[in-house]
Amino acid sequence: MKKVVVVGSLNMDLVMEVNRIPKIGETIKGDEMSYLIGGKGSNQAVAACRLGNEVSMIGCVGKDTFGDKILKHLKEEGVNVNGIKSDEATFTGIATIFKTKNDNSIVVIPGANDFCDKNLIDENIETIKSADILVTQLEIPMETVEYALKVAKENGVKTILNPAPAREISKEILKNADFITPNETEFEIISNKTFKDGNELEEAMIAWQNENPSTRLLVTRGKDGSSYVEENKVETMKTIKVDVVDTTGAGDTFNGALAHGVSHNLLMNEAVIFAGTAASLSVTKFGAQTGMPKFEEVNKILNVK
Ligand code: RIB
Repeated sequence: MKKVVVVGSLNMDLVMEVNRIPKIGETIKGDEMSYLIGGKGSNQAVAACRLGNEVSMIGCVGKDTFGDKILKHLKEEGVNVNGIKSDEATFTGIATIFKTKNDNSIVVIPGANDFCDKNLIDENIETIKSADILVTQLEIPMETVEYALKVAKENGVKTILNPAPAREISKEILKNADFITPNETEFEIISNKTFKDGNELEEAMIAWQNENPSTRLLVTRGKDGSSYVEENKVETMKTIKVDVVDTTGAGDTFNGALAHGVSHNLLMNEAVIFAGTAASLSVTKFGAQTGMPKFEEVNKILNVK
């Protein structure tokens, strides 16, 4: 069993099912409302755990009902929650998700996620040191992300940075990220470019990879698969076709599954196909975490180690 540590966000997702996203100044009537556990960090932790890894989560919730529910749920999933602080001074992060038939839009109020600070990393330093791989994202303060990556790298722990929600990434952060996994929109922000088509995206990927040779760039492209640069050429790993129910958490499943693949020393193409297959399976059910597959489900399709 490989040890995965996730440093990141935990949210209660308030999912509103709607026909379409309301325009500015408009009120529309929705269909259904659900409270589901989410947050990119918590989703990535559950994804890696379902695939059979030993997962510890470092993050922060409020001392409130949502915080208690998240902790209970993660424990039931098998995630080690000793690194999750319950802070009385704040409230648990909330994500309001407008879910339409084919896509979603999300507004996140970070709450306790903003209290995930460098002290919390220091308090859990042994967990990071003993991990095989660390995964983090950008729903917690940037200085915490930077510090967590540095601590991991100094201790020989592999690192994945999922740059979501996208922000500019400093050289200091990149220096300690072995993998960076934006989607196409996030890559536009990171590379400070816009792409008219796939060719422009691929040119930008090659340029970015050449400028940042120590961080492996992996761009997720939804139903078109995922791409990375190999010897100055973009390789794209297609993914399986599925009936999409809910795309929320697909990127998180990809990152949790990539942590599995990388920590098990799969080749780049194998790790990307594994992660893409897990992500595709995850969108076949409603909610960020509901459809996240177990290892056997991915293996049934791919027959991997
Ligand atoms: O990536 C999906 C997640 O983004 C949701 O679960 C929501 O909490 C937001 O953080």
